[in-house]
Amino acid sequence: MKPIVNVVLPIPKIYSGKVRELFKIDKERILIVTTDRISAFDFVLPTPVPEKGIILNKLSLFWFEKLRDICDNHLVESDFDKFPQILRPFKNVLEGRSIIAKKTIKIPVECVVRGYLSGSAWKEYLLTCSVCGINLPPGLRECEKLPEPIFTPATKEELGSHDRNISFEEMSGILGKEIAEYLKKVSISLYKEASDYADGKGIIIADTKFEFGFYKDRIILIDEILTPDSSRFWEKSSFRIGLSQDSLDKQYVRNYLEGLNWNKQEPVPELPDDVVEKTRQKYWQIYNILTT
Ligand SMILES: Nc1ncnc2c1ncn2[C@@H]1O[C@H](COP(=O)(O)OP(=O)(O)O)[C@@H](O)[C@H]1O
Ligand SMILES: [Mg+2]
Repeated sequence: MKPIVNVVLPIPKIYSGKVRELFKIDKERILIVTTDRISAFDFVLPTPVPEKGIILNKLSLFWFEKLRDICDNHLVESDFDKFPQILRPFKNVLEGRSIIAKKTIKIPVECVVRGYLSGSAWKEYLLTCSVCGINLPPGLRECEKLPEPIFTPATKEELGSHDRNISFEEMSGILGKEIAEYLKKVSISLYKEASDYADGKGIIIADTKFEFGFYKDRIILIDEILTPDSSRFWEKSSFRIGLSQDSLDKQYVRNYLEGLNWNKQEPVPELPDDVVEKTRQKYWQIYNILTT
């Protein structure tokens, strides 16, 4: 299948992210198209991963449905055949990878929940014995399960710069205490419910990130949820404490890039065919494990 990298439609494009393109449908609704672009270290790579956008879209839809009692989400329509007439000629591009969603005012904080000590949290813990201002017990090992899931927000920075971890107090300063408390509570509930479910499928959700937006007078879940782009997924059967894990997500691509001695500046290296194919397979694998 030919990868979808750029999307041109006869309706106005309102945003082009690292992976998604947003188009205006009307005052209250947008079309979100998930492309096959892949990003790592906050750069979009020049090489797409075929079908990745379809997998991310389908997996988010699965979780939106499963978790909708905890928090309402932005989904309006996922069935291409019910999309507006003007989009009908674009079936090849849109089907399976697009949704019509409520247009929200997005909340400028990424709501990260961590059940295990990995990635940037592990690095921060080594230096400070804390993560985002939360003190943790001493002597934890890499990838160790935390006593309780922790909420470690980050600000979303412009394209090309890295997201920045912030303390809960800093988040409260940006959004107000009441909203910050609400987002923390909902994010942890979503993480716990999803983790319990994934556990039954032999999968550990080490950490994940949620985004929320204001829709009318409510806060709803937006973007993607619990996908291999926004989460770390580990297989329980191969989990080993004290080491970095083999994971069913973007880590495989990050590891490849780390092995190149790339200076993390433009130009961004291409991915070889075998890395693309392996990544595609990992994304399908986690999708199949979680949804069947
Ligand atoms: N329902 C929504 N309303 C408003 N913005 C949204 C909605 N859903 C997703 N978004 C935003 O659209 C963008 C999705 O594109 P993506 O490629 O993931 O971007 P990014 O590079 O910013 O992560 C994100 O910035 C996300 O916050
Ligand atoms: Mg994103």
